[in-house]
Amino acid sequence: MKIGAPKETFEGEARVAMTPESALQIQKLGHTCVIETGAGAMAGFSDKSYKDAGVEVVKTAAALWKAADVVVKVRQPSETESKRLRDGQTLISFFNPAANEAGMEAAKKAGARVIAMEMVPRISRAQKMDALSSMANIAGYRAVIEAGNNFGRFFTGQVTAAGKVPPAKVLVVGAGVAGLAAIGTATSLGAITYAFDVRPEVAEQVESMGAEFVFLDFEEEQADGSASGGYASVSSPEFREAQLAKFRELAPDIDIVITTALIPNREAPELWTEDMVAAMKPGSVIVDLAAEKGGNCKLTVMDEKIVTDNGVTIIGYTDFPSRMAAQASTLYSNNIRHMLFDLTPEKDGVIDHDMEDDVIRGATVTFDKEITFPPPPPKVAAIAAAPKKAAVPELTAEEKAAKEVADFKQQTKTQVTLIAVGAALLLAVGLVAPASFMQHFIVFVLSVFIGFQVIWGVAHSLHTPLMAVTNAISSIIILGALMQIGSGSFLVVLLAALAVFMTGINIFGGFLVTRRMLAMFQKS
Ligand code: NAI
Repeated sequence: MKIGAPKETFEGEARVAMTPESALQIQKLGHTCVIETGAGAMAGFSDKSYKDAGVEVVKTAAALWKAADVVVKVRQPSETESKRLRDGQTLISFFNPAANEAGMEAAKKAGARVIAMEMVPRISRAQKMDALSSMANIAGYRAVIEAGNNFGRFFTGQVTAAGKVPPAKVLVVGAGVAGLAAIGTATSLGAITYAFDVRPEVAEQVESMGAEFVFLDFEEEQADGSASGGYASVSSPEFREAQLAKFRELAPDIDIVITTALIPNREAPELWTEDMVAAMKPGSVIVDLAAEKGGNCKLTVMDEKIVTDNGVTIIGYTDFPSRMAAQASTLYSNNIRHMLFDLTPEKDGVIDHDMEDDVIRGATVTFDKEITFPPPPPKVAAIAAAPKKAAVPELTAEEKAAKEVADFKQQTKTQVTLIAVGAALLLAVGLVAPASFMQHFIVFVLSVFIGFQVIWGVAHSLHTPLMAVTNAISSIIILGALMQIGSGSFLVVLLAALAVFMTGINIFGGFLVTRRMLAMFQKS
């Protein structure tokens, strides 16, 4: 099949759905590739680099749509592009199916199959095709860079001869993909970073990235992503009030706010209110990533940067990934090529659009002259949904004591039986074996027993440090080498010295590695 990428027609869009690198990978699947001239120019990929990668370059968009069996794109197709779709053709692109009835109708009428990249379900197997995540990751990173660009101070605190600079304080609201990328970037730039999310399970992730999770003094059955394919669901009005009260308390102290809170297919919730903006210091910056869905701050103007009367800059750009076109194109084209990989199971250049496959079915919005949106819920559970633990009934004090006694009795019984069997076997061997053998054999049996008792109780997570330390101890060979080092023969002395040197590395290295590994398990 021929896979083709046109030049994006949406104004200002700099990304491209196929890079020379991804084209090479697509060709390995048995396909051929074609692009419209200049398609990659704004992302830094020249026509020549495509040609060098074996890609055909055509002069016009019309020629490309005509030549390609599968068209790969970034932005949802324009009306003109939709008209170019033809029977049997496949389109892989962002498509916004929930708000693009006309686009789906056009594709259905034309008989084209459309795979909407935003519909790739958030399940582990589909992560490599999850373009929303790869773009949100870039947006989160870029949001911090953009904030820094508009913030008149350092992120990191400094003590210099010219004066002391306090570190910037960053609050990230919504710790999904974009939020976590923003947290990672802000902490690595040295800012004191706080984060909030309605899903409490992300607190650990937030803290592991060096930020502080903002907890609310509130009891609620928290939102559970499982029902909604890895996304959050709506929280109660009381919860929202508690959340706003906390933000109000933080607002005067925070320098940079990055809001990414969103529940799919809904308007963005208003979380950073006008009075919070008014309470912020002049020079503070808000980057509202949810601007496209109405914004988490109602003062946000979509696609613009404004400065409020009290000197707070509010950025509502919706094209952050396009502002990093080279990076975004590389990641997006990888998502596309992974999708093509799944669509070409035999790697023979033949597309098998398998509607039984959860990921392909989930993302397909038109198929065989039918609109297949919305898809049925995926059969596998979402990544974010932690398996619920079955409730274990609480035992009373007496029941607990009785259980402990019963366990102890059972353990003693097993141990006595094992020792009796072992002793009987040893006696049986002793009846026939010579005395010299028995001496060694008993030492061997005892060491196995002690070794087993020692290792059995060690937690799984500590098995690697345990191996490192046993490795160090097993360097007992050094004793043999030391005994031989005084020998008269030069060769023996040389070999013994080498053995001492090498086992020395083993001993010291082993203990050093063990110490380091154990340090990872110790709380500072
Ligand atoms: P996501 O679904 O992974 O994360 C959203 C997070 O917001 C979730 O963790 C969710 O629990 C949280 N959330 C929902 N309601 C909340 C509330 N009331 N309070 C606190 N947290 C709440 O989404 P992702 O992929 O991280 O995208 C985030 C936003 O960034 C979306 O609005 C998306 O459209 C936008 N985006 C913007 C771009 C731009 O250029 N401006 C580019 C890419 C994404």
